[in-house]
Amino acid sequence: MRIHLLRVGAMSFALAWSTTLVFGAENQPLYLDASQSIETRVDDLLSRLTLEEKISIIHADSKFTTAAIPRLGIPRRWLDDGPHGVREDIGPDTWAPTGRTDDFSTAMPAGICLAATWNPELGFREGEAIGQEARARGKDIMLGPGVNILRTPLCGRNFEYLGEDPFLTSQMCVGYIRGEQSQDISSRVKHFALNNQEFERNSINVEVDERALREIYLPAFRAAVQDGGVWSVMGAYNEFRGQHCCENDYLLNKILKDEWNFQGLVMSDWAGAHDTRECALNGLDLEMGSETNYDNFYFAQPYLKLLQSGELPMAGLDDKVRRNLRVMFATHVFDADRKTGSLNTAAHQTVARQVAEEGIVLLKNEKNILPLDAAKLKTIAVIGENATRLQAHGGDSSGIKAFYEITPLQGLINRVGTNVNLIFSEGYRKDGGEDLMKRAIAAAKSADVVLYIGGLNHDKGFDCEGADRADMKLPYGQDELIQKIVAANPKTIVVLEGTMVEMDSWLDKVPALLQAWYPGMEGGNALAKVIFGDVNPSGKLPATFPKKLSDSPAHALGNYPGTNGTVTYAEGLLVGYRWFDTKNIEPQFPFGFGLSYTTFKYSNLKLIPGDGTNGIVTAQFEIENTGQRAGAEVAQLYVHEDNPRLTRPEKELKGFKKIFLQPGEQQTVLIPLTRGAFAYYDPAQSGWVAQPDNFEILVGSSSRDIRLRDNFKLAAQKQARTKMFNLFPPYFAWDNNFNRSAIGWKPGTEDAPQWTATFNFATNGLYGYPASIRG
Ligand code: BGC
Repeated sequence: MRIHLLRVGAMSFALAWSTTLVFGAENQPLYLDASQSIETRVDDLLSRLTLEEKISIIHADSKFTTAAIPRLGIPRRWLDDGPHGVREDIGPDTWAPTGRTDDFSTAMPAGICLAATWNPELGFREGEAIGQEARARGKDIMLGPGVNILRTPLCGRNFEYLGEDPFLTSQMCVGYIRGEQSQDISSRVKHFALNNQEFERNSINVEVDERALREIYLPAFRAAVQDGGVWSVMGAYNEFRGQHCCENDYLLNKILKDEWNFQGLVMSDWAGAHDTRECALNGLDLEMGSETNYDNFYFAQPYLKLLQSGELPMAGLDDKVRRNLRVMFATHVFDADRKTGSLNTAAHQTVARQVAEEGIVLLKNEKNILPLDAAKLKTIAVIGENATRLQAHGGDSSGIKAFYEITPLQGLINRVGTNVNLIFSEGYRKDGGEDLMKRAIAAAKSADVVLYIGGLNHDKGFDCEGADRADMKLPYGQDELIQKIVAANPKTIVVLEGTMVEMDSWLDKVPALLQAWYPGMEGGNALAKVIFGDVNPSGKLPATFPKKLSDSPAHALGNYPGTNGTVTYAEGLLVGYRWFDTKNIEPQFPFGFGLSYTTFKYSNLKLIPGDGTNGIVTAQFEIENTGQRAGAEVAQLYVHEDNPRLTRPEKELKGFKKIFLQPGEQQTVLIPLTRGAFAYYDPAQSGWVAQPDNFEILVGSSSRDIRLRDNFKLAAQKQARTKMFNLFPPYFAWDNNFNRSAIGWKPGTEDAPQWTATFNFATNGLYGYPASIRG
């Protein structure tokens, strides 16, 4: 590792030295002057590039890099996966690992576990830690977070993503991006958009109506851009409305760049580009891929030729180069004080453990069988292959070569030491074996309590990139095994790793169930702490667990995996709990559900007008910890509209807060709501509309455990308060309360102010040159 740090240090030294050599200390060009604005530096550097150099900036020169331009001191740009940590080094021209010994990283829990914490602050800390490790490993752009919505339980990459709800997904990814980018790394939100299944992922064409697109599938991307300030976006493999997403005019040009005013760069997924002209004109800025003759990339020689012949405009190329350079300047690639990061620190391991501790969800706990008291136990039977299975490296591009990985069994050993006799029995294996089951049953009979640790894994066909699951069942005969184990020892606590499975055949027989997802390299320690009560579980499901696959919308309507290459999202807005609630279908466990070892009382809901900034109403209520242990509750706020002009789901999540309380402690919770919380997307008006109506504000512990409710009458919108001051130039804009969130918004977004402006990316949208002003 020391050698590696030297390598990075040497790189920055080499950069400073080479640019000094080129220009001489007294003749430093503007682009090397860190006191200049990003746009000034971009302009200056762009003006110095030859056509060929510009082309070299917009395509890969190995699996995960773009070329250096030594004469200008532009270093090679290093990209890496992904959302759960910094992937091991591969390549340069192959997917095989390089076999280095300095590319271990902290393996964070999977994205779905992070989402289950419902704690955006933890999202920030995870992003920050990954950003630090990325810098320590010399990276520039990290290929995460993944924010595709969980549409079907079968999608092979659900574990990487943040669940089924657009609001939760948005909140969690914004924290992550801000944390990661604070370390001079660019995050890359992916996969834009509608990459909701792995089946035929390179070609499947998605048809979805405009409302569902805007209300369900795009909000997290928009939040990443507008609230997270993400500097890059990765286009998806699939097609949308007949056009590949990496060359999709509507998604990339119209929505991302025009409507959302995204000034960063759009890159292709690996080999996600298919046509030079389409990519050039429809919004792609950087092509990455699998082809190893890099001159053959669509954005290499083929693009150069079309530019030289005048068939494609130079201005288009300049815009792409600009966007790439902007991200380099934003991440301080040329600056002496660029952050250098840190690797494998105790602080990073703590973040990994805390995400796991807060993300593990307690789904069932009859007669408070959990937490276990080690002092009262002589023998615990630990049964199930996942008790000893290493998971962090799996899943494909999101897998991490972890410094170490505490498996569940190791975590239990760490926790109970030699005071309790732990017997491990595998119970099942891919290739089966009667003996395994018999031995597990014998182990169960001989123990005071059984910890069954099974579920899914990252083998192809389960939670893994490149394929979907064939069904929602537990593999390897685990349904039968669990039934036999619980018959042998009724004190069987089931712990499932992975994403959701059907559990009807045994759920009512087992007294306790924990959903542990993929809890990362500190997962075993976190799990043991939850099981023995050192940590009080506070995770909540970021997605509905259906009783059976056919209950979930895409499958109920027969709209998965599509026919003749097209999948139609006929369920429209009714994804996840929106479907189960609207259609009155009982889920196995509802969205937002998760138990605690303590109890919480909700009381005294008041709706207070305004929130001091741009909110129009604030929900205020009390939560009290009425049990014996300290714990945390995620209070969730849903909105229901009484007489919607266009049909709406039964309820929609519009706010939440995680509250930590000592026994007997009470806290006042405030959840402000903007007009946007009441809005729906109206395709006829191409914009968001919050119509005057009566709304119900529902506050609860899950989407199906509403504890408080009140009515709110939304009045017609008042005259927009936004002011525009022309000091020529630039123009300054703010609303009466100096509320930055209003700046740069365009008519047609939820809180639409009555003007349109294009703002200067370099100054984070604080001033700029208005494209047009209305009203
Ligand atoms: C995945 C991306 C990943 C890329 C590079 C692709 O197959 O879809 O998520 O970032 O590979 O590994």
